[in-house]
Amino acid sequence: MNATAYNPPKSVSAFLRSDKFASFIVGPVGSTKTTASIIKIAYEAKRVAPCKDGIRRSRCVVVRNTRQMLYDTTIPDFLKWFPDGPAGVFLKTDSKFILKLDDVECEVLFRGLDDANDVRRLLSLQLTFGVMDEFREVHPDVYNALTGRLGRYPDKTMNGVGACDDEGNQIHKVWGATNPPDADTFWEDLLTDPPENAHVTLQPSGLSPEADWVQYLPDGYYENLSLGKSEEWVDVYIHGKFGRSLAGKPVFQCFSRETHVAKSVPNVLPAGVRIGVDAGLNPSATIGQIAYDGRLVVHDSITGNEGGMGALRFIREKLKPLLTNKFPGAKVTVIIDPAAFQRAQTDERSVADVFKAEGFNVKPARTNSVAARLAACESYMTRTVGDKPALLVSPEADLLVKALAGKYRYKTNTKGETDDKPEKSHPWSDIADSFQYLCLDADGGGVFGSSHETKRREVKPAPFRFV
Ligand SMILES: Nc1ncnc2c1ncn2[C@@H]1O[C@H](COP(=O)(O)OP(=O)(O)O)[C@@H](O)[C@H]1O
Ligand SMILES: [Mg+2]
Repeated sequence: MNATAYNPPKSVSAFLRSDKFASFIVGPVGSTKTTASIIKIAYEAKRVAPCKDGIRRSRCVVVRNTRQMLYDTTIPDFLKWFPDGPAGVFLKTDSKFILKLDDVECEVLFRGLDDANDVRRLLSLQLTFGVMDEFREVHPDVYNALTGRLGRYPDKTMNGVGACDDEGNQIHKVWGATNPPDADTFWEDLLTDPPENAHVTLQPSGLSPEADWVQYLPDGYYENLSLGKSEEWVDVYIHGKFGRSLAGKPVFQCFSRETHVAKSVPNVLPAGVRIGVDAGLNPSATIGQIAYDGRLVVHDSITGNEGGMGALRFIREKLKPLLTNKFPGAKVTVIIDPAAFQRAQTDERSVADVFKAEGFNVKPARTNSVAARLAACESYMTRTVGDKPALLVSPEADLLVKALAGKYRYKTNTKGETDDKPEKSHPWSDIADSFQYLCLDADGGGVFGSSHETKRREVKPAPFRFV
């Protein structure tokens, strides 16, 4: 095996080709993440502008949280694709491989992060690239400091432009692969809400039809691996979901990013727009449409959380501009918490009145019972219509995705006991509440037996997990 024989599965190619400053790939065990990270070294090194002698020089560090793991897995993985001899020279005592392919010469330094001295040495290196294997185990401070060491090699005296490509664009980068980190950690936050300059690939479940790497694994690999494992373990290592938070339990266990989040932004339908509104101090709205077959498509979720925006400012500065841009001319219905119809003490106008005065068709949600609200949402998450999930959430409704994926939760105390009511946490519980009012309305009584305004196709309950 060597790197010339490498053919990337589709699910890693966006990561491999990413030209962002930071690129991350997260997936089940065996999903070829580490291999993709290793191959990317040669790919990026090939782009570094050549020195005067025509050689493209660069320096890359490959880190793992322990030296043992580095020696047991990451280095053998590297040598499998870049064998000692044909692909360069492995200097074992220095934990360094000098990769030599065509006009490329890249010093690949393998570094464990066992103690403070390791970290200190790492952070004195002059590097072009940084690669992290199983980066969920790398301390965020180390990651942040590592990014400051990149782009320092080659320097301008060597090739005239420094760590740039042939066109003079800066190409210093950091990238890495990992199994999914736990929810509510630095890494989960970064991966679910990446900054502009970062790319994130979340691979599908190893048991899903989209798992395009299984041919490289023993037959029945994931089926066998799942035997006798806890549901939690299977969720992380086979389905590639973020781990449970120690701080709380997600309210919607049946929500799955893979099933319920659209791969690209769904089209606006030729149908009315329904907006669930939570009218507390932090007004929030979830904006959806019902498809002709009864599926609920959620396009956006917004909150006025920043700076305690009142309902009027929220409507004028956030909601209306969004509606005008995305749903021009659509019939809009606003469904609000029944409590919002009571007069507010402060300005003597209820939030419902404010919406009405701004020209909206407003109606109160059928009930305020938490159990009924959760049931209405769950009924969407657990059904399919034909072969499609009954709930589809646009990636643009990122606040809602995060809330449903775990930020909206039952809090767990230090003794490990879990509350029986969802935690109030802004904006997550506000967004989740607005989604509940939307589901209550869209469901049209499906859960509670009242008649629905449009006739639906037959819907059948479906398991949402792939096991
Ligand atoms: N493109 C490929 N072609 C052939 N084998 C591959 C390819 N990518 C990965 N592999 C092999 O598949 C197995 C799993 O890959 P690995 O990168 O270790 O996965 P992960 O890091 O996601 O657990 C390894 O044996 C690896 O050598
Ligand atoms: Mg790996």
